Amino acid sequence: TENTDVPIIIIGSGYGGAVSALRLCEAGKKVVMLEMGLNWEKAGIPFSNLLKPGKSSAWLKKKSIAPFMNIFSLTPFTGILDRLDFEHINIWVGRGVGGGSLVNGGMAVTPKESYFREVFPDLDAEKFYSHYFPLVREELKVNVIDEQFLKDCPYYKFTRVGEEEAHKAGFKTMRVPNVYDFKYMEKEFRNEVPRSALNTEVIYGNNYGKNSLDKTYLRKALETGNLEILDLHRVQTIQLNDDKSYTLNVQQIDTSGILIADKVFNCKKLILSAGTMGTLQLLLQSHAENNFPVHEKIGKKWGNNGNFMTGRNWVKPLSGGTGAKQSTIPVGGIDNWDDPEHPFFTEIAPLPMGMDVATALYLLINRVDKKGEVAYNKASQSLTLNWDESNTAKMKENAQYFIRKMNKANGGTRSHLLFNNGFGADICYHPLGGCVLGEATNEYGKLKDHENLYVLDGSLIPGTIGVNPFVTITAIAEYCIENLIKQNEFA
Ligand code: FDA
Repeated sequence: TENTDVPIIIIGSGYGGAVSALRLCEAGKKVVMLEMGLNWEKAGIPFSNLLKPGKSSAWLKKKSIAPFMNIFSLTPFTGILDRLDFEHINIWVGRGVGGGSLVNGGMAVTPKESYFREVFPDLDAEKFYSHYFPLVREELKVNVIDEQFLKDCPYYKFTRVGEEEAHKAGFKTMRVPNVYDFKYMEKEFRNEVPRSALNTEVIYGNNYGKNSLDKTYLRKALETGNLEILDLHRVQTIQLNDDKSYTLNVQQIDTSGILIADKVFNCKKLILSAGTMGTLQLLLQSHAENNFPVHEKIGKKWGNNGNFMTGRNWVKPLSGGTGAKQSTIPVGGIDNWDDPEHPFFTEIAPLPMGMDVATALYLLINRVDKKGEVAYNKASQSLTLNWDESNTAKMKENAQYFIRKMNKANGGTRSHLLFNNGFGADICYHPLGGCVLGEATNEYGKLKDHENLYVLDGSLIPGTIGVNPFVTITAIAEYCIENLIKQNEFA
């Protein structure tokens, strides 16, 4: 077995990992990043679109795993989208150099300040809104669609119809910023450059236009010369050594998932940025198998960020439907957060099926009043999730209220095309929590009961943030790593 010693290891190359890597590398530290997924830029393999799922569409599966309408069989490949199935909820995650930024819709939403203060009462909100949020919006290249283009572009009929209907039903709408380069999209529309968002590319990757982390934080970190990224390296378990350093058992795989080499890495400082589910798996599995110390708060305050999918069909669409051609990048939302009875935010989501299915799709984000808990089952070697219909009851009530109000004003029925009963309570894109900042960790993400271990990813957020989460994950990572470096944790 190959045995390697390095000073600092980061596990995972999503938002938390990419931010940590950049700031440590800028401070002159040598960093090794271990990522189980593939480096797609280096591999030079194109991403597939929604209509033709190929290599990038699923992590080692025989069938595609889009949230609905999966009719495609696949040859197993280390694709960028994975789904973790639990009894009452399925959780989608990104795999590959760039993590969730490769598969996500790029919606870059800063949380409402009042809710941020409620979720993180101990953080200096003023500093976040004056410094960290503006900083990450710049680093992530967040921009907004041009209103005239939105008005004219046939690919955004679904947004225009969705907003008109929302206004008719008495709801307030909002423009949603994104990391997709809207100037590039305008060129796509004029056929000056290859198409991506206008060619049904999104959850299996975007070949152009989207500023995923490999084009922002990770690129900058690599340019320092201090970062080495090892892809197709999956960390299995972690051991704590007597001298308080860590030993990682790592499997290197090939693109069909076959084991190439067992490796051992030793490091003085370890940063877990494997995403909420990945980080919890590493901590709890290592605890079960190696007596790895974990604080009692680990696994607590998990939530789905209030994710609840729903849709509407029109029998005879007055609007003529949402359009056969749809951009994959959402730019509209309905903001009902300040309604005390039914607080929610919903994205007016595209459904680019290549035909007009006369269906409107919505991903609601609700409060999470009842949190879940994550544990580990040694027999099945997998995570268990204490989460059922009782956790999503209020979210369902909000979705029912929303659909009823929209249908009353605009016509239509609950969508049975997309979900069994018209509701997708079990679809989760935003797993958060389980390793909550200031509870399982100190105020900057250093794990309790450890001297050289840090968590920097979505698991720091206690299950809810009220909007799509990556802007917040990135801002919290910036805040934590800045302070950890200041405190000489990596000296
Ligand atoms: P993230 O999950 O990004 O990265 C973790 C990385 O660690 C992955 O690359 C994984 O492969 C790797 N890893 C895990 N275990 C490992 C191990 N044992 N060894 C080595 N590597 C390991 N959010 C938003 O704000 N706007 C949006 O529009 C969307 N849209 C969206 C769509 C879809 C389909 C999904 C699935 C998700 C979104 N999201 C989103 C959510 C967003 O992408 C998500 O919250 C962040 O990517 C989470 O960032 P993290 O840094 O926590 O981890």
